[in-house]
Amino acid sequence: MIAKAPEIEFRRVSKRFGAGPLVLDGLDLKVSPGEFICVIGPSGCGKTTFLRMVAGLSRPSGGEIRFDAQADGTRPELAFIFQDATLLPWLTVLGNIELPLRLRGEPRAERRATAARLTAEVGLGAVGDYHPRQLSGGMKMRVSLARALSLSPDVLLLDEPFGALDAITRNRLNEDLLALHRREGWTAFFVTHSVTEAVFLADRILVLAAEPARVETIIPVDLPRARTLALRESDEFHDAVAEATRRMHSVLAR
Ligand SMILES: Nc1ncnc2c1ncn2[C@@H]1O[C@H](COP(=O)(O)OP(=O)(O)OP(=O)(O)O)[C@@H](O)[C@H]1O
Ligand SMILES: [Mg+2]
Repeated sequence: MIAKAPEIEFRRVSKRFGAGPLVLDGLDLKVSPGEFICVIGPSGCGKTTFLRMVAGLSRPSGGEIRFDAQADGTRPELAFIFQDATLLPWLTVLGNIELPLRLRGEPRAERRATAARLTAEVGLGAVGDYHPRQLSGGMKMRVSLARALSLSPDVLLLDEPFGALDAITRNRLNEDLLALHRREGWTAFFVTHSVTEAVFLADRILVLAAEPARVETIIPVDLPRARTLALRESDEFHDAVAEATRRMHSVLAR
């Protein structure tokens, strides 16, 4: 694992749009390099707003988000994955995956090699020449994931990426995502509406609430890191999901 991700510190981060109500209020959180944070909470509580602030696409109204210095002094690389795969229909799988590198001006041979490697890593080696219309929803999300990884991100931001997929495809993608995470070591912020998915993926689950906006609680997930289908079927996992659900309901009902 390449431990290059930065530590990220949120200090009293708050957000409101114009004269509107607070969307986030006083978020204090320190995220370790390579940590996997899931963000959960009712619709409109500010999950996407939170990710956009981490990405620098939106500024906090108060407080600050600090990224500690990279060992080599460069800015951390961030990549965003949305619920919709947002692929370019006229490009092939390989063409979509190499696009960020093309835009960055990477030489053709190198970006082709990177795209081919990533295509294989996300399990699409056999369909590199397909166009998006020839892919299933799960395959499209795999392309979207590989495209984000082409930039060798330090921080990966995922906004309900698997929400539209069936349970089997989603579980599979969860496992594959964790295998990539284990190897590459980026820090992840993953928004989901599913407690089961959050428990499977996360080191910690950030529970947000709306009206009034607040960070309700942070739930640590103390399951072993090799999270596999076998773990998903275990009593230990079911107990962890039940416990996280109970804690979430008890705080959100307040
Ligand atoms: N650009 C904006 N201008 C004004 N208000 C905004 C803007 N973006 C988000 N909001 C408001 O901020 C609040 C949080 O929105 P956000 O999209 O972050 O919620 P969310 O938790 O991602 O919801 P969902 O689960 O439905 O995706 C909402 O009340 C929304 O109307
Ligand atoms: Mg959202």
